[in-house]
Amino acid sequence: MVSTTMDTKGKPINQTVALSTAQSQTQTRSQALIDIRKVTKSYFSGGIETQVLFGIDLLVPQGDFLAVMGQSGSGKSTLMNIFGCLDQATSGTYRLNGLDTLTLSRSELATIRNRTIGFVFQSFNLIKRMSVAENVALPLIYAGVSRDKAYKKALVELERVGLKEYAKRLPNQLSGGQQQRVAIARALVADPPLILADEPTGNLDTQTSVEIMRSLQQLNVERGITILLVTHEPDIAAYSKRLVRLKDGHVLYDGPAVEGLQQLAQSHEAHAQAALSSDMSQDQSGALL
Ligand SMILES: Nc1ncnc2c1ncn2[C@@H]1O[C@H](COP(=O)(O)OP(=O)(O)O)[C@@H](O)[C@H]1O
Ligand SMILES: [Mg+2]
Repeated sequence: MVSTTMDTKGKPINQTVALSTAQSQTQTRSQALIDIRKVTKSYFSGGIETQVLFGIDLLVPQGDFLAVMGQSGSGKSTLMNIFGCLDQATSGTYRLNGLDTLTLSRSELATIRNRTIGFVFQSFNLIKRMSVAENVALPLIYAGVSRDKAYKKALVELERVGLKEYAKRLPNQLSGGQQQRVAIARALVADPPLILADEPTGNLDTQTSVEIMRSLQQLNVERGITILLVTHEPDIAAYSKRLVRLKDGHVLYDGPAVEGLQQLAQSHEAHAQAALSSDMSQDQSGALL
């Protein structure tokens, strides 16, 4: 049954999409899709602990479109890996779609991941020797769906991203932007409520990046799919509703994207001014010598 309702921000959400997993059938509207509390992450190697995340709290409701920004090494990918159940927090709690991920076994986690999350990567991660449609069908085949059914659903998703006529080609016969759209179709084929994308436009030119971001925005607005993406480009983050800025494993900003990006531009401006004035004073001192 398809019913349209409003999320907390007044945007329409298709409830059949938002409630597409068994778990979410019992979930209350107020329950966040992602609920991370006091999450820390340390890596241990050679007896040395390197702490990367320092007590992250984040609630992501269904229908949100969130960009995570931060300098290289600030912990963005580490956080995305935790969101995607590809890695576990060292301490703290992570509830995904109402389920406490720390209490789940590896195979339970894999099942939840398959049902709940579609992944989009910077390098597309398509399998070279498989056709475009076979690549898109793969998550369904992993989930135990028959090849026939999976292939048919793959064609539906490919049509949605405008690439149905490329179904039988190999990935390397497509442009970078087309390959990323194939990856988006693959991420969506099992109807997950959430897409995680780590630098999805990192390998694309500006025009193609804009097209990919428009597709993601459309998925968010029209199908109510929750999107969480990592980017270091303000122009890309501008497509999101909400911005989280990380600095050295801490949340520096969490709020509306527009205001967060303004703050970021102002801090860049202030840095540039400071650098300029220190250059000028050096020039002046040089001139005095
Ligand atoms: N598997 C790992 N083992 C040890 N240190 C790691 C590992 N993965 C990442 N790090 C370190 O954690 C920090 C954050 O990395 P990452 O989350 O990849 O940052 P970002 O994606 O923001 O560039 C970096 O200092 C990185 O060197
Ligand atoms: Mg990274």
